[in-house]
Amino acid sequence: MCDVAAEGSSPVKSPAKGRARREVIISLVPTGRQVVEVGCDHGHTAAALGAIATERRRHRLPARRDLRLVVADGLRCFRAVDVAVITGIGAWQIGHILATGPRPQVAVVHAPDRPAWLRRWCADNGWRIDAERLAPEGRRFAEVMRVVPGSEPNQGLTLAFGPKIPEDPLAHAHARQLVEYWSSVLARVEGLNAVKSAEAREWLAFLERFLARDGTQSQR
Ligand SMILES: C[S@@+](CC[C@H](N)C(=O)[O-])C[C@H]1O[C@@H](n2cnc3c(N)ncnc32)[C@H](O)[C@@H]1O
Repeated sequence: MCDVAAEGSSPVKSPAKGRARREVIISLVPTGRQVVEVGCDHGHTAAALGAIATERRRHRLPARRDLRLVVADGLRCFRAVDVAVITGIGAWQIGHILATGPRPQVAVVHAPDRPAWLRRWCADNGWRIDAERLAPEGRRFAEVMRVVPGSEPNQGLTLAFGPKIPEDPLAHAHARQLVEYWSSVLARVEGLNAVKSAEAREWLAFLERFLARDGTQSQR
């Protein structure tokens, strides 16, 4: 059973922080559907979407009266869910929430720790990546995706990088950031870890090919 909370207790955090990522999340949510945000934290996204806002622990709920607040672990206290927003949560935890169900018709997900792992998990577990967008966050880019039940046709690094990421105007900046990341990984592990070195080289080759494919786009 869902524990419906009348009122939360934690302070409302600034809506400005993480605004770009929040706007991207909101843009990926289909309109006119019932939305549940799992792990609403400050509640800004849920408020913008008119979503049911959940938290696993009552003390984590925001102290605001403009939201329907529910104490729930993942989605399991709901009988059915149209659209689930599960963002800013670890990839494994998102997979666990989706696997436990009930299975939403659409999920907008963002795993800051391991986005590539989450894409592979979705593809292996009957989810298709329907749309993806990037949002600048610090020196990196948040990778937000919308998944729907179905069969994902992509695999390998095309899937890991994000099959819809090339359509995003920030894709080349993101790829350049990933080149920096994988170059630093390679510098650290070369001669010490053959498997990780091979993975880094594979990523670097993939990213260089992607960046070279359209010279004008790579100037973005
Ligand atoms: C880092 S915050 C992200 C908040 C917001 N969703 C966002 O994208 O900015 C993650 C929140 O998810 C909550 N959370 C983590 N696992 C959860 C679960 N299984 N069910 C409900 N809430 C969960 C945590 O308590 C925390 O408030």
